[in-house]
Amino acid sequence: MAILFDKENRVFSLQTANTTYQMKADEHGVLLHLYYGDRVEYNMDYLVLHQPRCFAGVPYELGQDRSYSMGVLPREYPTVGTGDFRNNALIVRNTDGSECCDLRYVEHHIEKGKYQLEGLPAVYATQQEAETLSILLEDPITKLQVKLLYGVLEEEDIITRSALIINGGQEQVVVEKAASANLDLLAGDYDLIRFWGRATMERQFERTAICHSRQMIDSNRGHSSHQYNPAVVLAEKNATEDSGSCYGMLFVYSGNFLFEAEKDQFGTTRATMGLHRDGFHYPLAQGETLIVPETILTYSNQGFAELSHRYHRCIREHIVRGMYQHAVRPIVLNSWEAAYFDFNGETIYQMAEQAAELGIDLLVMDDGWFGNRQDDRTSLGDWKVNEEKLGCTLGELIQRINDLGVKFGIWIEPEMVSEDSDLYRAHPDWILKQPNRNPIVSRDQLVLDFTRKEVRDCIFEQICAVLDQGNVEYIKWDMNRSLDDIYSAKTLQGKVTYDYVLGVYEFAERLRERYPNILIEGCCGGGGRFDAGMLYYTPQIWGSDNTDPIDRIHIQYGTSFFYPISANGSHVTDVPNYLTGRNVDMSTRGIVAMEGTFGYELNPAKLSEEEKKVIKEQIKTYKTYAKLIQTGKYYRLTSPLEDKFAAWQFVSEDGSQAMLNVVKIDQKGHNEFSYIKMKGLVPDAIYADAATGQSYSGAALMNGGLPLSVWMRVHTSYQVVWNIV
Ligand code: GLA
Repeated sequence: MAILFDKENRVFSLQTANTTYQMKADEHGVLLHLYYGDRVEYNMDYLVLHQPRCFAGVPYELGQDRSYSMGVLPREYPTVGTGDFRNNALIVRNTDGSECCDLRYVEHHIEKGKYQLEGLPAVYATQQEAETLSILLEDPITKLQVKLLYGVLEEEDIITRSALIINGGQEQVVVEKAASANLDLLAGDYDLIRFWGRATMERQFERTAICHSRQMIDSNRGHSSHQYNPAVVLAEKNATEDSGSCYGMLFVYSGNFLFEAEKDQFGTTRATMGLHRDGFHYPLAQGETLIVPETILTYSNQGFAELSHRYHRCIREHIVRGMYQHAVRPIVLNSWEAAYFDFNGETIYQMAEQAAELGIDLLVMDDGWFGNRQDDRTSLGDWKVNEEKLGCTLGELIQRINDLGVKFGIWIEPEMVSEDSDLYRAHPDWILKQPNRNPIVSRDQLVLDFTRKEVRDCIFEQICAVLDQGNVEYIKWDMNRSLDDIYSAKTLQGKVTYDYVLGVYEFAERLRERYPNILIEGCCGGGGRFDAGMLYYTPQIWGSDNTDPIDRIHIQYGTSFFYPISANGSHVTDVPNYLTGRNVDMSTRGIVAMEGTFGYELNPAKLSEEEKKVIKEQIKTYKTYAKLIQTGKYYRLTSPLEDKFAAWQFVSEDGSQAMLNVVKIDQKGHNEFSYIKMKGLVPDAIYADAATGQSYSGAALMNGGLPLSVWMRVHTSYQVVWNIV
């Protein structure tokens, strides 16, 4: 039993293999948070002190008892108007304009299996793998109800949280803010790790103290964003890769989000994850429900590596679906950095010929194949194959490519429309746009109002008509701008950002259902919508438009804290790199791209014979070790922010095989000695280098480490596979 209820004390315990999460419906019906940490089999309510605190507001019903204040107690789902001045999880504007909401316990249910959320992505699990606890809270005056949902995946040490906001009253109310998870940590001094960035520099690791202030990490761009990823770690000061306590909060959502952290006056830390307030005013008529997207929690007492392993497994086994969930992903050759818009059917075919020669599985025809699209200023929304440009039908092109033994994939950007398009000329009212103002233009494109079914249907039908022309086996779903103009001609203003994301999910689900054999790779101007929500529909996401391997090391380092290697689209591209001008050798480019789903984005016809030889070797290596890379335990061995070399490692579940990757990222004269300490090996086993036969014990490799040559030059790399002998 993962979920226990102590009836006498009204204490709920969510037990996983290594953790305990506890809360209590106290004698006033207030749901208090008691504990989240190492597993205990004990009632932890003694931790909560009831002692008078200066300036604390006391509920009226308690009369002169000053020892009870909601502004001091640890709360499971804090609301406004209750004497709690810290961040809150929920704000609802009542019919009379007041915002007070005082939630008290009504009932609860414990069930086998994991709850699901209608229209939203969520962790899934079998009846044996998970249990669900739902706790119903209600405001006795307004009858507003909140159903808190907890999914417990015992073996995975994962707890999920979501909330249903239900209008149980007679008249309309407006939800102004709603979170799915709140953590009140009674003691401890925490750092906050967030993954910030910008287009082409996504998910940069940053660790700072949670001090006496309110901090927030958010996106109000309509997508989860390049700027902040909806994933944070709260780490005790001494937490490192291998030791110390840390908590992860991962929002399973692709739109606006808000994470808030606050260390309060008495040293407790509150962390809240949920929907953003900006532009959000969600009306609920009598009986209506708002579903708040899910947050995935874990607690690790063994540092970040363990935390990452749990999220990697959870995403691989309980978020990603479909035939590519466990399948080795195809190695792709993508036309974008190879040709941009400058291609025709013959050049695409020639790239496929080169792909076949090199051993690449799939050719992707990126942007530029439809309407009159010769640059990025036109034709989005007109999803008709430009047969004049291709010199043949799409079906013919695909057939010729398949005849080479190469699969075919195609790029789409369903949510967007160009001003210069037949679709926009016919339906200028189908975009998101403020009334009586010109729209804001970004990359010369406008955002279609995906809150509207007729808009989605029109795009869906057009895209299906393309996909039905041949054997398409891969789609790259792009999204190349943020949502600036939050206003829909049809959907109520305060619902637009939320309903937009529901529209995206509905479209994605329809696409998956109709084409279950197509692999969909998400993309958003690189990695601007890289989140667990999209991974429910698209098993992999293009990591970044930055393909420079040295920058990519930083991007992939940050990405790896929450997202598995199989989620990260990563390619080898040409040098000098189009963004940074760096000229990194082919071997290092390959090793870095192998920290992802692997592929190429260059024109092989321009490569030297020597480079082609290296590529063939890379492909052989990747195919041999694809399972190890995509599903093995991933370890960060160094930090690219602090160390002169980046090192990471994949280890099979049983520890019998490991792949070590090292890239020298910085160089000074006469290098210091460097040793890389491997992780996760069997200490008393002997591991041999698959290429040279040189062997060491697991303990030696982990404790003494492997010496790097002092002559290793900047941006060169080293990859070695170890097998137990
Ligand atoms: C975005 C993607 C690129 C490419 C272009 C095409 O920027 O991230 O990989 O597909 O769009 O326009």
